[in-house]
Amino acid sequence: MDFRDGVLHIGDVSALDLASRFGTPLYAYDAGVIRRQIERVQTAFQSLPFRPFYAMKANSNLSILELVRKKGYGCDCVSPGEIFLARQAGFTPDEIWFTCSNVSDDDLRAIGDPAIVINANSMSEIDRCIRLELPNPIALRVNPDIGAGAHKDVVTGGSGVKFGIDLAELKEARMVTEDAGHRVVGLHAHIGSGIATPAPLIESARRLLELLPEFANLQWVNFGGGLGVPYAPGETEFPIDDYAKELTLLADRLLRARDLTAILEPGRYIVAQSGVLLSRITARRVSNGVDWIGCDTGFNHLVRPSKYGAYHHIVNASYGSDGSLRESWNPDVRREEVVIAGNLCESSDVFTREPDGTRKPRAIDRAQIDDILAFCDAGAYGFSMASHYNERLLPAEVMVDGSSTRVIRTRQTYDDLLKGQL
Ligand code: LLP
Repeated sequence: MDFRDGVLHIGDVSALDLASRFGTPLYAYDAGVIRRQIERVQTAFQSLPFRPFYAMKANSNLSILELVRKKGYGCDCVSPGEIFLARQAGFTPDEIWFTCSNVSDDDLRAIGDPAIVINANSMSEIDRCIRLELPNPIALRVNPDIGAGAHKDVVTGGSGVKFGIDLAELKEARMVTEDAGHRVVGLHAHIGSGIATPAPLIESARRLLELLPEFANLQWVNFGGGLGVPYAPGETEFPIDDYAKELTLLADRLLRARDLTAILEPGRYIVAQSGVLLSRITARRVSNGVDWIGCDTGFNHLVRPSKYGAYHHIVNASYGSDGSLRESWNPDVRREEVVIAGNLCESSDVFTREPDGTRKPRAIDRAQIDDILAFCDAGAYGFSMASHYNERLLPAEVMVDGSSTRVIRTRQTYDDLLKGQL
């Protein structure tokens, strides 16, 4: 992204053109950025026996799934619906892991293909697979007793989380699985999301690798996702090459000795930076000395600020300069301080917040009604967490590739609100 003549461009396409051609609110993704991130992972880990998987929960648009698949990624799915979409995007069953979380018999039956790896999260999921006589290969999701993440609600390892088989329970999990005639083909740990440094990921990997001697039939060791991305000015890129170097040092020999393949399953790292949510300014007001801007989207389309107090950099796409962007932020430019709110009937519908959730004004370049705001780094957990709360329609999505633009999901219509209602 950059500013040309004061207007934000995504690839070579003006954000204002996108807004006028496709309407707002609108998710726009830059294919070049997705490709860059795909390749960063592949290049960093190329000396390991390695297969990257994409955690499609971050963004499950079919066009994005196809892009990662064609680059050689497998797919991490967490529900039958995700498996359905992954198959639609062309992933073959042997390229899919189904990571369970409190699944039902119906969920397990809906997997539909015996080659999909079932990554069991608990003893009762193992029991279910055995009772249903599912022939699928089984992996075990381990809680390696360490967690990390950008917010307490995205930590998925350590004590007090709902994920993973405890280390103390692992032997029993293996025995129950093997006694039923299954082989444990994989070990998996995913300790959290938005992790800024490799240290906790390496410690988790170390604990996972210590378990190898207990498992004779492994093919895969899955070190999870969780690689963070910068969201605010001054935050740095996740040092992926350091992570790769340390993981290679730790794991390469052990993996090769057993002919095992390492998996990493990043979601955010692949798509976050590619996406912006474009929204039109609809209102301005001053209340108790605070300047407010209102716009035509809300937490129904980008829930991260109100759910996690997450920071998304916001620029005025109609009026700015490269110094307005997160990555080249110039704090010395004179700007307005405004609180930015959405169009939902709920007080929590505010995008500019402190990490603890408190509302906070944000510095933004001169903004007028009908200007277009860009909520940056919104490619991950943006559309995929969207709802049509307040019966606001889900936005359209477009993929920009250089100077070309393609609609990859149409905007919902009012008829969609009637769908399924009797
Ligand atoms: N693997 C498993 C088993 C996961 O549960 C997740 C994310 C990932 C991989 C991918 O994690 P990533 O590389 O994207 O950090 N909605 C939250 C993030 C929740 C992540 C849930 N699991 C947010 O907006 O920050």
